[in-house]
Amino acid sequence: MLIINPAKTIRGEITVPGDKSISHRAVMLAAISQGKSEISGFLQGEDCLSTIACFRKLGIEINNRNELIEVEGKGLYGLNEPSTALDAGNSGTTMRLLSGILAGQPFTSRLIGDSSLQHRPMNRVATPLRLMGAEVSGVGEKCCAPLTICGGNLIAIDWQSTVASAQVKSAILLAGLYANGRTRVSEPVLSRDHTERMLRAFGVDILSAGVQATILAPKQLIAQKIVVPGDISSAAFFLVAAALLPNSELIIRNVGLNPTRTGIIDVLRIMGANIEFDNITENNAEISGDIIVRTGKLQGVEIGIDIMPRLIDEIPIIAVLAMIAEGKTTITGAQELRVKESDRITAIVTAFRKMGAVIEELPDGMIIQGGQKLHGAAIESYHDHRIAMAAAIAGLFADGQTSIDNDECIDISFPGFAELLSKVVKS
Ligand code: S3P
Repeated sequence: MLIINPAKTIRGEITVPGDKSISHRAVMLAAISQGKSEISGFLQGEDCLSTIACFRKLGIEINNRNELIEVEGKGLYGLNEPSTALDAGNSGTTMRLLSGILAGQPFTSRLIGDSSLQHRPMNRVATPLRLMGAEVSGVGEKCCAPLTICGGNLIAIDWQSTVASAQVKSAILLAGLYANGRTRVSEPVLSRDHTERMLRAFGVDILSAGVQATILAPKQLIAQKIVVPGDISSAAFFLVAAALLPNSELIIRNVGLNPTRTGIIDVLRIMGANIEFDNITENNAEISGDIIVRTGKLQGVEIGIDIMPRLIDEIPIIAVLAMIAEGKTTITGAQELRVKESDRITAIVTAFRKMGAVIEELPDGMIIQGGQKLHGAAIESYHDHRIAMAAAIAGLFADGQTSIDNDECIDISFPGFAELLSKVVKS
């Protein structure tokens, strides 16, 4: 159980663990490229460790030295048929992206996951992968895990996704590595483009034009040295705390600033936060830099469908922002939150109402009245890392103590979160 006490201010200089999305993709592309890749800054969180475990079962030698991951890539056609099921744990990214790669393999694999992952829809990847020629079976109408995939001899397709989802887009593009010709995916709003950028870094011919990405199946991918920046979705918890707590100043070093991920920065700035960037650099087609955030006077905001993919994982912490800021915040177009690690709309509304928040639940979002006085409460994490961390930050603003049950899920994306928070928070 995580115990959080009220805080007065937050000050200091920190780094946050590596970007989860980039870490997954680095291991996956390294495994199917020719030669030895080295990955630094890799997120040693449970989700990314699930990806490593799956590729080891597919016959890839991966040396995890903590600071550096060495992957002995065996080329596009070097994976072995696994003798047991591939366990994606809690990780939707592992299951969906790996499905794309497995669709290209001339053998059968079985993909399993934990109880949360077993309820998440996999038909959004199964349908296009079947159209490309793979056999994909799962449970029920939503084609839930366990999944069985048998692939090979894929046909290139032109897929118009009805959801703005990087996991769907990436699964199809990765299958496109094995298809005969050009595979194209378009989506209603551009989602995070880490797959496109990393494929390019590995030497693949891939064209991005607005909401459309087109991949030409390559002969091989070439091993790379990948540098993973800090995860802006992890930094977000600290950004919000520093923007709201009085007399705060926090420097977060080396955070990924890919424009498809910086919606949280835009929202904070629109609300009145004081944020600067410094030391911008670029590695493997991804930009990163330091973020300096100071206390601001924040106002409620309207957040809709157009910005949603750029901040989808930040809605739990944006809800905290909205509860403390002045005025009303309306969040719509966020129905995807209902199929994340938990139903995040219900989880946010239930958890924060317990702390005294005034929130109206909408089918695709919520309306939050700002300026409410919060009180400490016993909060359930719903075994969802981002709900647990958002509740911890809310606890900094509450009267009395907040306890968060089942907080071990935080290790999914942010090992060391509580220790880092206690280092910079002053009570
Ligand atoms: C991710 C994409 C997003 C995000 C998830 C990571 C990725 O999911 O919520 O945490 O790494 O591609 P969707 O693509 O399903 O929206």
